[in-house]
Amino acid sequence: MRLSRRVAGGGLLLAMIVAMTACGGDDGGGGGTASKEVEVFTWWADGGEKAGLDGLVSTFATDCGQFTFVNGAVAGGAGSNAKQVLASRLTQADPPDTFQAHAGAELVDYINAGQVEDLSAQYQEWGLTNAFPAGLIQNITVDGKIYSVPANIHRANVLWSNKAVVAGAGITKDATSLDAFFADLDKLKAKGVTPLAMGKDWTQLMLFEVVLISDLGADKFTGLWNGTTDWAGADVAKAIADFKKLLTYTNADRDTFDWTDAEKLIMDGKAGYQLMGDWEAADLDAKGFKDYAFSVFPGNTGTFQWLADSFVLPKGAKNPDGTKCWLKTVGSAAGQKAFNTKKGSIPARTDANTSDYPAYQQAAIADWKNLKQAPSCAHGSACSQGWQGALNSAMGKFSGDGDAAALQSALVAAAGQFAKK
Ligand code: BGC
Repeated sequence: MRLSRRVAGGGLLLAMIVAMTACGGDDGGGGGTASKEVEVFTWWADGGEKAGLDGLVSTFATDCGQFTFVNGAVAGGAGSNAKQVLASRLTQADPPDTFQAHAGAELVDYINAGQVEDLSAQYQEWGLTNAFPAGLIQNITVDGKIYSVPANIHRANVLWSNKAVVAGAGITKDATSLDAFFADLDKLKAKGVTPLAMGKDWTQLMLFEVVLISDLGADKFTGLWNGTTDWAGADVAKAIADFKKLLTYTNADRDTFDWTDAEKLIMDGKAGYQLMGDWEAADLDAKGFKDYAFSVFPGNTGTFQWLADSFVLPKGAKNPDGTKCWLKTVGSAAGQKAFNTKKGSIPARTDANTSDYPAYQQAAIADWKNLKQAPSCAHGSACSQGWQGALNSAMGKFSGDGDAAALQSALVAAAGQFAKK
């Protein structure tokens, strides 16, 4: 973990940099001698995530050689640690030069708080306006202004498995309903392995969300986040009951696990399945584990639960020209290829060459085009950060006490507090 700080420059230095870059007058190619560093704040610290970041950094080194990448990554899946560190830095007016933010409601939080700059002019200048799908652009736009550059599209509702463990339990085909999945989990249980590897709060929220998709369908699920579906309904109660049953097939120490700890149970042959986003493909590849398979979560067929990582120009960034060069790299065809071929995600740009990608992403590129899309709260496309925090806490509590009525009340209360009126 690194909480980097460049040497405090003081007002005079800042004024000099501003004057020098203003004279340079370009889109990131200028840069004064004093402000070469670009601190990039992410939670991509290890494995496939780091490999993806390294891909972007190598394109940045080629395209923006006048600047120096500084790695501000704070480890912890889904930004569980990074987001807290970032929030405190933003409060203290000490932003990194750029940070990772999920497209959708999470980004809107930063926009509404006035913490990120409008990038509409850069979209024009770099020809990005038509590079991304219209729906994605809508998710990063407020009042006609565009505030971030998307690096990718990830899929959240994917079930990963250890092929040998699953075959060893006599499971021969992918379950397509929750009932069939419960039967498969029983077979794994009888073999003495953990049927479903599980981690802490946000990973439990991911599992709960896909169960909601299975029980409610994609449209009613999406309605939970825009106020058209009632969290107090009997279908949500049924999903809670199914989710509770699923937890009985998971490792008892789940609340102490990050997603990579649960993934290790799969790699070590100690567990059969894990529900996780498709960063798992990249991470398993980066760790050299080959005997894995993937399928859509049972009951989610036809739905692509999406999220997207994007990068912003924070208000008060110390090296805005360097940030712009980073953002230009992120949005470029070369940057998206270098990043996404290693990250498990698919390019946000629509002009990518599918054959450049590994097998998993080739399938995901086709699915993204053809399937119904649903957002993710655990990864910020569906809900604000406040709402996400409330649900993560509710999940952690439910994992301990299994009180279904209390969970549903907490879900109803969170929607009452955080859903847009
Ligand atoms: C991010 C992914 C990341 C995953 C696990 C998600 O919120 O969007 O880029 O790989 O968390 O850390």
